[in-house]
Amino acid sequence: MSRIPVFEYHTKVSTIKLELQNGEVKLIEINPGWAFGTGSHITTKLCIKALEEIFKERKLEKVLDVGCGSGVLAICAAALGASTALAIDIDATSVGEARINVNKNGFSSNIEVLCGSLENTNHSFDLVIANILIDSILLISDELKSKLKSDGLLLVSGIRDTRKDEVIQRFRELGLSLDKELCNEGWVALSFKTHQQTAFFVYRKCPTSNLIRLPQTCEWNMGQIQSFEPCT
Ligand SMILES: C[S@@+](CC[C@H](N)C(=O)[O-])C[C@H]1O[C@@H](n2cnc3c(N)ncnc32)[C@H](O)[C@@H]1O
Repeated sequence: MSRIPVFEYHTKVSTIKLELQNGEVKLIEINPGWAFGTGSHITTKLCIKALEEIFKERKLEKVLDVGCGSGVLAICAAALGASTALAIDIDATSVGEARINVNKNGFSSNIEVLCGSLENTNHSFDLVIANILIDSILLISDELKSKLKSDGLLLVSGIRDTRKDEVIQRFRELGLSLDKELCNEGWVALSFKTHQQTAFFVYRKCPTSNLIRLPQTCEWNMGQIQSFEPCT
């Protein structure tokens, strides 16, 4: 017998404990209503753990949560220190629930919630989060990458460990490198970073001494020396 998917209405508010950079604990409260996202699903928990680690390592200003459901991950990102977040979902009901949760947690001035997909924003972000199914991640992988700032981070979840290599391979092809891998009960969340550009400079070497300098600035620089040109 085939199984019919049932949309569940959540009446219970879940409390999520977040560990901040300074070791303090912050509580957020989520009532998903008709949306996905109590915060207790493994794929969401892995994202929350990754977010706590990421925000301990660096300050991230602008966050995009693709497939926000109840808004749980955008709210966690804002609570951990993001200045602004854009939470988007293709499902209008989820968007309504996310807006309620954003307001309840006091982030209405930091988090914008939009119904739609990635085409609905032209902005670039320090962190892009997508806890959606693996096939959707692969399908929109180009767009996910295109929303990253030059030193941005991508966090994807909703991946079965048997298929994680497909995701790693796809984002490698797009020029990203694997940063973190968090696993639990057969699910994996992966974070990727953009490659930092190695700076190449043309140095000039003085023919009468061993000195080298940058042509325009005459300043010493830590960039990798690509070639020498004789002084003119
Ligand atoms: C598994 S739920 C995750 C909800 C929440 N982020 C969490 O971690 O609990 C995935 C959500 O992504 C939305 N979704 C799926 N594909 C999407 C896409 N291409 N763009 C925007 N939203 C999408 C679905 O409507 C659903 O609400």
